[in-house]
Amino acid sequence: MNSATRIEQPESAAAAPDLTLDVERIRNDFPILKQTVHGKPLAYLDNAASAQKPQAVIDAISEAASTCYANIHRGVHRLSELSTSAHEAAREKARAFLNAASAKEIVFVRNATEGINLVASSFGGHVLHKDDEILITHMEHHSNIVPWQLLCEKTGARLVVAPVTDEGELDMLAFGDRITSRTRMIAVNHVSNALGTINPVKRIIGLAHAQAIPVLLDGAQAAPHMAIDVQDLDCDFYVFSGHKVFGPCVGVLYGKKDHLEAMPPYMGGGDMILSVSFEKTLFNDIPYKFEAGTPDILGAIGLGAALDYVQSIGLDRIAAREQDLLRYATETLSAIPGLKIVGTAAEKAAVVSFVIDGIHPHDIGTILDREGVAVRTGHHCTQPLMDRFNVPATARASMAFYNTHDEIGRLASAIQKTIRMFA
Ligand code: ALA
Repeated sequence: MNSATRIEQPESAAAAPDLTLDVERIRNDFPILKQTVHGKPLAYLDNAASAQKPQAVIDAISEAASTCYANIHRGVHRLSELSTSAHEAAREKARAFLNAASAKEIVFVRNATEGINLVASSFGGHVLHKDDEILITHMEHHSNIVPWQLLCEKTGARLVVAPVTDEGELDMLAFGDRITSRTRMIAVNHVSNALGTINPVKRIIGLAHAQAIPVLLDGAQAAPHMAIDVQDLDCDFYVFSGHKVFGPCVGVLYGKKDHLEAMPPYMGGGDMILSVSFEKTLFNDIPYKFEAGTPDILGAIGLGAALDYVQSIGLDRIAAREQDLLRYATETLSAIPGLKIVGTAAEKAAVVSFVIDGIHPHDIGTILDREGVAVRTGHHCTQPLMDRFNVPATARASMAFYNTHDEIGRLASAIQKTIRMFA
């Protein structure tokens, strides 16, 4: 073979990235996965509710608490300096994770819910007036519904809801129709927690920005499963929860610098000010303007370790692994007579919500638990979506990269046992 022939090798074969994962090694990083529950090995399939923590996160928190913990931004002493730089290093990690242009655009909050409340209250309160409209979708989590309803009550604005199809996809034609000259804000989940649907967020942002409408993306169910690039998305706000990204209960709000600078503070208190007098208070620069009071310092440090951890595995590898788990779970569960999957969108994250004829989801969850299989049952904080599908609740298996085909097989066996018990 001459060199010219070698150069003409098909590009795809030469460039195909290796997306395999050493799952056994990865499972060893998560001490909790070695547990038994009711005498059975734990099959943890409730990752959409909260994900487990790798040893690297546990160690980072323990190490910081043992060596460099003090309050931040306040002390001139050594521990306060060390703690401040560890906290700010975590902010930089969150910036890199989202590919934000500046760490000033990263606000630490408690969770995605608090991030949305902050934007609704501060940004929404600033830009919305009577009869303006906020457009959301029928598949939002309560945390991306109620803050906007509260804002509507305060301002006289209206909440407009775009419908979802029987498959659980956003009806994009109807969505487009609901963008009007009164629309001032669009808030959409990137991935549905109850259905797993991955929404066409770039298209949504394109439609919105064509009419200068800002967009908030609720990334709580996307950030653990796929690479996020807020500059490429061009979203105005993005929120996610650290506890779903294998870290502690610290959340991140990304906001474009110009928005954050124009927005009034959300809460008042220490650290969010430059100076205070009874006559006049001057606020701190972003992001500190939005971080009143002592934050969860150890939590932020743990979140930094979690983001390092998932990036060391690679979000592309994680996404590929989870798509394989989703395919396997969908095939396996679809083959069970009487079981119906709720949410069959073409683009899905590794979430399988299901109902079984004649068996309440809570009974399914309880029996699965006795088999060591943890799933979430209920309305998943999406009651309007449950109404849309005419179900009171579903059982939901939500996978992470550390789950296995064997665990999905155990889920299927436990479901079949449940069906036999109720027959
Ligand atoms: N939002 C989380 C869930 O979907 C709690 O389970």
